[in-house]
Amino acid sequence: MSRKYVIAGNWKMNKTPAEAVELINQLKPLVAGASCDVITAVPFVDIPAVLEAVKGSNIKVGAQNCHWEKSGAFTGEVSAEMLKSLGVEYVIIGHSERRQYFGETDVTVNKRVRAALDAGLTVILCVGEYLEQREQGVTSEICAMQTKIALQGVSAEEMSRIIIAYEPVWAIGTGKTATAQQANEVCALIRSTIASLYNQEIADNTVIQYGGSMNAANAAELLAQSDVDGGLIGGASLKPADFAAIVAAAK
Ligand code: PGA
Repeated sequence: MSRKYVIAGNWKMNKTPAEAVELINQLKPLVAGASCDVITAVPFVDIPAVLEAVKGSNIKVGAQNCHWEKSGAFTGEVSAEMLKSLGVEYVIIGHSERRQYFGETDVTVNKRVRAALDAGLTVILCVGEYLEQREQGVTSEICAMQTKIALQGVSAEEMSRIIIAYEPVWAIGTGKTATAQQANEVCALIRSTIASLYNQEIADNTVIQYGGSMNAANAAELLAQSDVDGGLIGGASLKPADFAAIVAAAK
C-alpha cells in the first residue's frame, strides 16, 4: 500500500490574484513541515500568480474544472491543455456545485476526467449523494454509479493520477459534517468499487478523500479512519491557520 494523505483546499470563487498571493504567503510557512501532499485549487484567473507564489514551497496548484476539448468554440471554458501549459498539476472534476448549478452530468464528468488525464493532469474526482438520496438508502448506489461512470475508459496505469473525493452534498458548506463512521463507510465502498473495476492493489493505492465541512476541530477524527486518506476543504481552506491545522492532522 503506497497511500499518502492528500489535503486539498478548494477555494471556490474566492480571492482576487492579489488576495490569493497574500493567502499563499501566509500559508507557506504554516504547512512547510507537512507530511502529506498539500494542494490549493484556485480560480482560473489566480493560477499564474499562485504558481509564482508557491515556488520553492511544498504547495501544489490545482484548478477547479476543465473542458474536455483541447480548443474550439466553447465560450467561457478552459481546456486541460491550457492548465497544463501554465504548470498546473491538479484539477477538481465533478464537484457537486458544478453538478448542481452548471448542468454537469456523470457523462460530462467522464469526458472531463479523460481530457485531464490526456493532458497529464492529476484529477480530484468528486462524488457524493444528496440528503434525499441518503434518506432513501441509495448512498452506496449513487456513489458507486458516479465513480464507475466517471472512470469509464480510465486505464489501470492512469489510476495513479486519480484522487477521489467523497463529498456528501448535504455536508458541503453547511457545517454538517458526516460522522467519521459515515465518511469511512462510503470511502470504503468507493474503494471496493475501484477494486471491482480494476483490482485490489489499485484500490489500496488510490487516495480517497472526505470533503464537506471538514475543519480544524473535526479533521483528526475523520482522517484517523482507515479508508479516509485526506480531505477536500472548502471554507476552512480560506483561513490559513485552520487549513494548516488540518494539514497537521494528516499524519
Ligand atoms: P466545505 O466545502 O469544506 O466548505 O464544506 C467542501 C467542498 O465543497 O469541497
